[in-house]
Amino acid sequence: MERVFVTRVIPQIGIDILKRELGGCDVNTSDKPLPKDELKAQVKGRTGIVCLLTDMIDGEILDAAGPQLKVVSNVAVGYNNIDVKAATARNVTVTNTPGVLTDATADLTWALLMASARRLGESERVLRAHAWHGWGILQFLGQEVGGRTLGIIGAGRIGAAVARRASGFDMRVLYTSRSPKPEMDELNATRVDLDTLLKESDFVSLHVPLTPETKHIIGASELQKMKSTAHIINTARGPVLDEAALAAALKAGTIAGAGLDVYEAEPTIHPALFECENAILLPHIGSATHSTRNKMAEMAATNCAAVLHGKAALNPVS
Ligand code: DGY
Repeated sequence: MERVFVTRVIPQIGIDILKRELGGCDVNTSDKPLPKDELKAQVKGRTGIVCLLTDMIDGEILDAAGPQLKVVSNVAVGYNNIDVKAATARNVTVTNTPGVLTDATADLTWALLMASARRLGESERVLRAHAWHGWGILQFLGQEVGGRTLGIIGAGRIGAAVARRASGFDMRVLYTSRSPKPEMDELNATRVDLDTLLKESDFVSLHVPLTPETKHIIGASELQKMKSTAHIINTARGPVLDEAALAAALKAGTIAGAGLDVYEAEPTIHPALFECENAILLPHIGSATHSTRNKMAEMAATNCAAVLHGKAALNPVS
């Protein structure tokens, strides 16, 4: 029997696959990331690790597992929590879950975009505080979305799905990407440089993976280039956006609003963001639908089983 450790609760469908394909697995059923020392103890002697984006899988964890470890299967599309180089050096395959969460994440990006444009957070807070005293023609005026310009930074699967949804709003779409993307061209999106995108967009949405190159891709100077009426949305990874600079820009009126699902040091949120009425703050729920989370667990378990059966992983990142 293969020795697989699942670092935290995942949908049952994933556990069932591991049981059926590999004869079983051990699971941390607490739904909390394990402290590093505990994780090191739990992975010792395993051939497979099924982990979540809240687990930092670095060289130390890989060494604690031992040389028999064959696969680290992330239940997420982003894999910045795994030191892929260290895994590759130890002949460990790393896998992720691309594709299955594209639509759920694109939908949530749009939910944030609309919520920010129309000040939903702020107006709901007023109502819940029993401070709404009746309709007023000048109350909670926001921005129109239809016909405006959407700027997509990073035109991978999720960026393209966000762009596709923009056609329903007759938007002009700009995007940045290292190379031209035929799928974006088919959507009549225009590839531009980052400065042009920042200057011309009414809504800027981040869809780059987190790498050393994309960390703080948006900071104070980039926010300064945006329109004062513009909104920024981040459903990618927190560190691509400088949170302190964003809070300062929101307070100063450099930009009009922000919709965030991810943060630089989750679950810690920069305290200044809580003071910004014009920020919509969600707890990293981009892929949080029943069917998507099931598909992610299914894919991660299938990847793990494939490698342990000596087959090629379906979704290797290394
Ligand atoms: C991912 O898979 O990378 C997402 O952030 C999870 O919601």
